[in-house]
Amino acid sequence: MCSFTVPPVVLQLFVLLFLASPATACTEQEKHNLLRFLDGLSCDGGLATSWHNNGTDCCEWEGISCNGDGAVTGVSLESKGLEGPISLFLTNLTSLLRVNLSHNSFSGGLPAELMFSGSIIVLDVSFNRLNGPLPELPPLITTNRPLQVLNTSSNQFSSQFPSATWKVMNSLIALNASNNSFSGNIPSSLCLGSPYLALLDLCYNQLSGDIPNTLGDCSKLKVLKAGNKNLSGILPVETFRVTSLEYLSFPNNGLQGELDGAHIVKVSNLATLDLGGNHFSGKIPESIALLKRLEELHLGSNNMSGELPSTLGNCTNLKTIDLKINNFSGDLGKVNFSALQNLRSLDLMMNNFSGIIPESIYSCSNLAALRLSANHFHGEISPRIGNLKHLSFLSLVRNSFTNITKSLHALKSCRNISTLFIGTNFMNEAMPQDETIDGFQNLQFLSMQQCSFTGRIPTWLSKLTSLKILVLSNNQLTGPMPSWNNSINHLFHLDVSNNSLSGEIPIALMEMAMLKSDKPAIYLDPNLPDLPIYMNPSLQYRMGSSWPKVLNLGKNKFTGVIPQEIGHLKALLYLNLSFNNFYGEIPQSICNLRNLQGLDLSNNHLTGAIPVALENLHFLSRFNISNNDLEGPIPAEEQLSTFQASSFDGNPKLCGSVLTNHCSSVEAAPVSIIPAKQCSEKIIFAIAFGVFFGVGVLYDQLVLFRYFG
Ligand SMILES: *[C@@H]1O[C@H](CO)[C@@H](O)[C@H](O)[C@H]1NC(C)=O
Ligand SMILES: *[C@@H]1O[C@H](CO)[C@@H](O)[C@H](O)[C@H]1NC(C)=O
Ligand SMILES: *[C@@H]1O[C@H](CO)[C@@H](O)[C@H](O)[C@H]1NC(C)=O
Ligand SMILES: *[C@@H]1O[C@H](CO)[C@@H](O)[C@H](O)[C@H]1NC(C)=O
Ligand SMILES: *[C@@H]1O[C@H](CO)[C@@H](O)[C@H](O)[C@H]1NC(C)=O
Ligand SMILES: *[C@@H]1O[C@H](CO)[C@@H](O)[C@H](O)[C@H]1NC(C)=O
Ligand SMILES: *[C@@H]1O[C@H](CO)[C@@H](O)[C@H](O)[C@H]1NC(C)=O
Ligand SMILES: *[C@@H]1O[C@H](CO)[C@@H](O)[C@H](O)[C@H]1NC(C)=O
Ligand SMILES: *[C@@H]1O[C@H](CO)[C@@H](O)[C@H](O)[C@H]1NC(C)=O
Ligand SMILES: *[C@@H]1O[C@H](CO)[C@@H](O)[C@H](O)[C@H]1NC(C)=O
Ligand SMILES: *[C@@H]1O[C@H](CO)[C@@H](O)[C@H](O)[C@H]1NC(C)=O
Ligand SMILES: *[C@@H]1O[C@H](CO)[C@@H](O)[C@H](O)[C@H]1NC(C)=O
Repeated sequence: MCSFTVPPVVLQLFVLLFLASPATACTEQEKHNLLRFLDGLSCDGGLATSWHNNGTDCCEWEGISCNGDGAVTGVSLESKGLEGPISLFLTNLTSLLRVNLSHNSFSGGLPAELMFSGSIIVLDVSFNRLNGPLPELPPLITTNRPLQVLNTSSNQFSSQFPSATWKVMNSLIALNASNNSFSGNIPSSLCLGSPYLALLDLCYNQLSGDIPNTLGDCSKLKVLKAGNKNLSGILPVETFRVTSLEYLSFPNNGLQGELDGAHIVKVSNLATLDLGGNHFSGKIPESIALLKRLEELHLGSNNMSGELPSTLGNCTNLKTIDLKINNFSGDLGKVNFSALQNLRSLDLMMNNFSGIIPESIYSCSNLAALRLSANHFHGEISPRIGNLKHLSFLSLVRNSFTNITKSLHALKSCRNISTLFIGTNFMNEAMPQDETIDGFQNLQFLSMQQCSFTGRIPTWLSKLTSLKILVLSNNQLTGPMPSWNNSINHLFHLDVSNNSLSGEIPIALMEMAMLKSDKPAIYLDPNLPDLPIYMNPSLQYRMGSSWPKVLNLGKNKFTGVIPQEIGHLKALLYLNLSFNNFYGEIPQSICNLRNLQGLDLSNNHLTGAIPVALENLHFLSRFNISNNDLEGPIPAEEQLSTFQASSFDGNPKLCGSVLTNHCSSVEAAPVSIIPAKQCSEKIIFAIAFGVFFGVGVLYDQLVLFRYFG
């Protein structure tokens, strides 16, 4: 028997002593190292003051924690505005367990002493400006390091992703190196050194080559992300040996091959499968039904084909199905969508699907975004679509749907609908004039282009008070342009081009509030469309408000003079009045549209001189006044001197150096040498215009939104 009794007096003394001296008072050595670390910063974001005011016990300092011996174990200095190198004095703190320096402006390299420290378990240096390579294994270190979590993401690290480093990282659980500029391959020995790895995030780097089949040796892996890189080859079958995988994501690489049904079922814990933006081919395997936990399925922008397996309806946890831009075909009716009660987003844009919209889709009561554009669907929109109370994004563009009247009556029950793109359907039908079309209180983006609709612009449109974008181009609409008044408070993109509208432009249009503000970016809309809006496969708008501010009345039968009030629309980027019957002079006030990047007044009956002040539209990169009856010299000093003869042709009374008709000395515009700086500015604006807005390209092609929506 073993007994040991402590005399009560000794015990009391011990307790007293313990209470008297706080166990966490830091040692002088630790304090010294922390102060030297502080000294090394070029900007401390007020940390020195805070530490100074918090007394001499460094264990009480902001962001510092200690163990019972007064040794520093934690340094948590996230988002403190710190700048400068990570001082080696930090590595002198030999009891450090957790270091979090994320969201500062640390620069220079990551000290090897920190990464290969004998004590540190968690090291988070994400969101800084660290650069250079990640330290390779120093020769003297041969034993395993305790590091479990390493986050170097969102820095400027470059060079070869290290391979030997991981040999001594036997405890590593999470490695996040995303959003840097690492090059080279994913090291094949990674899982050999770090067999317990559960999270590996290498997204947004410049890694290339094959995915090593040895990743299959990381048997604890749950999250594997390596998107937006340059990986090629196949997805090795060994990857599917990792039955713990929950998140498998390799989007936007150059991977190819087929999804093997026999292998994919092994990763039965999978919740996210993201292989979008690769070169995968073949079908979706039937066995996908066995992925009972699947929530996100992203296979968009590949080369996949075949019919959808009916078993897709068994994946009842699915929230997102993204199969856009592939070659899938057949009737959707095979899939029973009724069981997919969690489905929020279904994107089948640009495939070869045919048949009608299966009734079972109307049972997916949580569906918020449905895009079926650019397929071969036909038939009518069932009134049951009104069941989709959460539906806010619907795009049916470029199919063969019929009966627009019935469709609108069905859709008005979808109270939340904010984006409705239905163009290139309903061919040659009459535009419904029915006053009982109402609802649509939240509708912001409406496109009904290229349907050859006949009739007038209907009055029910005037009740859509939330409308921001309205596209009615390429129809056969007749009658006047209505002057809505209240419905245009939020409108900033109006396109009615290529119709047969007539009469004068209503002055009310010149009062569009969103176009009157002088600021190019009037507001940032926090309400994102549920899906990014595609103008074509490579041009997409993620935010509605990033659309260009446009007034396009081109190719109609409008007449009268261009109202002076046009000068109110100061936010306009693009104004097209071409191919109408406008007469009179170009109003001077057009020169107030300082943000204008494109101006097309061609093919009208405009007379008089070109306003000299047009020269001041410095952003203008597309300009056309050809085929009018303008006269006099072309102002040749600034912006207008950058345009070719084709911008001015067909005005016999115009003269200028770009035209065959040179001005006589009396009427010659003063010639001056353009300063070099201005030239380069123009070029930059032209490029920005083309790349950012893509408007030039789109408007040149008249087929406005080919893959729109
Ligand atoms: C002392 O440190 C705490 C955080 O640990 C901080 O919130 C406080 O502002 C500091 N006191 C002074 C006087 O700086
Ligand atoms: C602390 O770090 C400095 C710089 O790396 C080094 O010169 C010094 O020897 C270290 N002191 C201790 C006690 O480790
Ligand atoms: C580091 O701090 C940030 C900000 O508080 C936090 O989001 C992050 O999770 C922390 N890192 C680790 C590894 O805990
Ligand atoms: C860094 O990555 C780790 C592991 O993925 C994560 O726990 C931590 O929250 C990340 N830090 C930040 C600031 O996001
Ligand atoms: C990796 O870190 C980044 C922050 O830079 C974070 O956004 C991302 O979610 C992390 N990855 C994982 C898988 O946690
Ligand atoms: C990538 O890092 C940069 C800073 O280096 C940061 O601004 C950006 O938000 C990061 N991107 C992601 C996706 O985390
Ligand atoms: C991707 O790899 C190809 C060759 O494999 C190379 O030509 C290309 O520049 C790489 N792209 C990037 C972004 O690294
Ligand atoms: C797309 O897949 C088909 C087979 O379905 C194949 O013949 C074709 O070569 C693939 N195209 C590309 C670009 O990979
Ligand atoms: C899919 O669900 C149906 C019933 O909804 C069931 O009969 C069938 O066996 C399931 N298939 C698989 C592969 O789980
Ligand atoms: C798409 O699939 C159809 C068969 O459904 C085939 O005829 C066509 O060639 C495929 N298109 C491409 C681009 O692979
Ligand atoms: C689709 O599944 C639902 C249950 O989720 C069932 O009630 C319905 O009969 C099925 N429809 C068809 C056509 O199989
Ligand atoms: C459209 O549907 C309505 C209501 O179902 C019907 O009355 C009308 O005849 C249909 N129009 C056409 C052109 O089929």
